[in-house]
Amino acid sequence: MAEQIILTAQNKADKYKEVLPQLEALIASEPDLIANLANVSAVLKTAFGFFWVGFYLVREDALVLGPFQGSIACTRIPYGRGVCGTAWASKTTQLVEDVDLFLGHIACSTLSRSEIVVPIIRDDNVYAVLDIDSDRLAAFDNIDKIYLEQLANSLARLF
Ligand code: SME
Repeated sequence: MAEQIILTAQNKADKYKEVLPQLEALIASEPDLIANLANVSAVLKTAFGFFWVGFYLVREDALVLGPFQGSIACTRIPYGRGVCGTAWASKTTQLVEDVDLFLGHIACSTLSRSEIVVPIIRDDNVYAVLDIDSDRLAAFDNIDKIYLEQLANSLARLF
């Protein structure tokens, strides 16, 4: 297994293009779900300097906190609640430029200002969501959406 990720790109799109194939290789070499989600969180946090990166896993009627990198976070999010619960219920990526303007946003940290949540879907079932928070407003855009959805697609195979 590779022990480090090579990162030379300067802009965001190029960083994703450089990091995603390395994540694919990392995932391909390990069958365990939790181990892979943990390493994906670490790589995304390190490569992009996000404030918080992690996964919430679908467990019956709630999302339960999974592997993450960052500060302590809410452990359970009900279906349809907050940005994560909305991504689960709608089966669509939620791109939130200002969390204060998202009705029902769940503030795990007051430092979080913007957020993107990507559902991980296989055969029309949501198994988890990838949640990334920034301490800057409008830190995420369509570039993040495109590449993170690509990553979510690859991760869906693990569930
Ligand atoms: N803000 C999320 C909750 C999870 S934390 O950001 C880590 C939400 O509204 O669903």
